[in-house]
Amino acid sequence: MDISRIAVVGCGTMGGGIIQLAAQNGLEVVGVEASEPALDGARARILSGLESTAARGKITAEQAERARSAFTLTTDLGEITEADLVVEAVYEDVELKKRLLGEIDRLVGPGTLIASNTSTIPLVILAGATSRPEQVVGMHFFNPVPAMRLVEVIRTPVTERHCIDSVTGFAAALGKSPVLVNDVPGFVGNLLIVPYLLDAIRAYERGVADMESIDAVISLGFNHKMGPFRLCDLIGLDIVHDMAASMYEEYRDQRYFPPPLLKQYVRLGWLGRKTGRGFYTYDD
Ligand SMILES: NC(=O)c1ccc[n+]([C@@H]2O[C@H](COP(=O)([O-])OP(=O)(O)OC[C@H]3O[C@@H](n4cnc5c(N)ncnc54)[C@H](O)[C@@H]3O)[C@@H](O)[C@H]2O)c1
Repeated sequence: MDISRIAVVGCGTMGGGIIQLAAQNGLEVVGVEASEPALDGARARILSGLESTAARGKITAEQAERARSAFTLTTDLGEITEADLVVEAVYEDVELKKRLLGEIDRLVGPGTLIASNTSTIPLVILAGATSRPEQVVGMHFFNPVPAMRLVEVIRTPVTERHCIDSVTGFAAALGKSPVLVNDVPGFVGNLLIVPYLLDAIRAYERGVADMESIDAVISLGFNHKMGPFRLCDLIGLDIVHDMAASMYEEYRDQRYFPPPLLKQYVRLGWLGRKTGRGFYTYDD
């Protein structure tokens, strides 16, 4: 199936990145947000993303110009009806996602595919909230979306082959490297990275070393681009917390239990780069 028109529901860190990426690759995109202020923030982030991508020479000034008119943003979910594919990218909240997927399912035609960018919620729970579980798939992009090459394509036992092929082809057309993964909580990426991030926070809580030192060990000793605290700030501490809580709910394994410090920072509203303060402080 040829995907040329997409809708993205939730235009935050991930949804905004998906809209930018799709628009700069010549697709028509409708982005849906919950409120006008959120919409304004999303527009500013997408336009600044296009500008910096062009400034780095990754796309031409003409591509950036075309992309600027290829996307529209709205608070009206009713505007998604013409999409070939709807990508849901709202908060990692199972009830919110189930409700929205049910609404999306009622609004779009029978051929439309529905994807969720969930990090940890079992796809079967979301697929079960629709009347078309065979056409619901996971499209797990990585942050920042325009730069990171991986997309985990998640299939449930009932996902139809044509749906997997269309979404995989779509991810490849966006310049990504899709990897097909089965529907287990956390898939591959977060199954491995979430316990690592939580272990780093617990190591700090136990006084093993300060955050800078733990980050330095990982980036200098293992050649990672950034250590676990910088990575938490990039992902968003609320998202790290919600991923951990959702995986703990599934596995009941202490490795996934959100550490108290993470919870406290989230309650303070210190969510990482997006709020200017997380484990570190960001002036820009
Ligand atoms: N941040 C990451 O590094 C990352 C990476 C991969 C996947 N994810 C997943 O992507 C999803 C989104 O994460 P994010 O980091 O972009 O979160 P975010 O908080 O930056 O954005 C979520 C957006 O959803 C919007 N929203 C909430 N309710 C809505 C509704 N009813 N209708 C329309 N929009 C609504 C919010 O206004 C917000 O802008 C989550 O499921 C998360 O687990 C995040």
